[in-house]
Amino acid sequence: MAQKEAVQNSTSQTKEQREAQFKKQLEEEHKLISKKMKDVKYVLVVMSGKGGVGKTTVAVNLATSFALNALRIGVLDADIHGPNTPKMLGIKNYVPSVGESGIIPALGPLNMKVMSMAFLLPDPDTPVIWRGPLKMGAIKQFITDVNWGELDYLIVDLPPGTGDEPLSILQLIPNITGVIIVTTPQEVALLDVRKSITMVKEMHVPVLGIIENMSGYVCPKCGHVEKIFGEGGGMKAANDMGVPFLGSIPIDPSITIDGDKGLPFVVQSSKSKAAEAFREITDKIRKKIEPDYKG
Ligand SMILES: Nc1ncnc2c1ncn2[C@@H]1O[C@H](COP(=O)(O)OP(=O)(O)O)[C@@H](O)[C@H]1O
Ligand SMILES: [Mg+2]
Repeated sequence: MAQKEAVQNSTSQTKEQREAQFKKQLEEEHKLISKKMKDVKYVLVVMSGKGGVGKTTVAVNLATSFALNALRIGVLDADIHGPNTPKMLGIKNYVPSVGESGIIPALGPLNMKVMSMAFLLPDPDTPVIWRGPLKMGAIKQFITDVNWGELDYLIVDLPPGTGDEPLSILQLIPNITGVIIVTTPQEVALLDVRKSITMVKEMHVPVLGIIENMSGYVCPKCGHVEKIFGEGGGMKAANDMGVPFLGSIPIDPSITIDGDKGLPFVVQSSKSKAAEAFREITDKIRKKIEPDYKG
């Protein structure tokens, strides 16, 4: 009976009343999340319009680059359906336990703290078949119930597109430092970038910039760069949308091999052109964010 009344009440609310209620709820959640994340200095979110462009590769290697610079790093894998951050960081069979201050994240290489849906699944072949509210609940728990402790950067790896997970992250975390959009060089990628940037801007979250990945193949024998996927899409998208361009990462087969082995390529293939490009991007990001960082 009470349930029926609640349903009737909620349907009899005007649009304005529902919006006001939602705003109030969100304000309360922001208060709680700000308190929980008070020792996290910067939050970066890695996003893209489509899958397979290298978000997880960028998130993991950005995190590793930061950690190599003696920063305290957390990685939140918010890809509920395709949680592969732990695999790329070489973390296997971690079962989270609950300590006095919350869920204990896994400790990856260089003491990076990692939380992922992958840790909660019985085996890697089990799919997560959830609708929006359940996913939002899981993401909320990853933010509020995980003991992230003191971090310089929390890097959030998102699934592709503008669905439930990006919406939850952009809505719930009140102090996002910036969103990094990963794209490939084709001009058609511009369409996807435009959607992502529009969503981020509409939610009043700052866009830190665009990274163009898979930007040409460097011949390991002669060093010639073959622009397999065209060129300039990332820069063009940045100019068109009025956001900074952070840099390009070439295609390097060792990135795939290292990723599959769970070894961040910035460490494993540190002398490659791709790793060099990544170090430059990391430096650019730090200069934009950290007031005292001179490089
Ligand atoms: N610059 C690159 N050169 C070679 N392989 C890459 C590069 N960037 C990503 N990959 C590979 O492409 C695949 C998809 O990358 P991933 O980071 O999982 O994308 P997303 O998270 O956007 O779906 C992975 O196998 C990864 O190792
Ligand atoms: Mg991914």
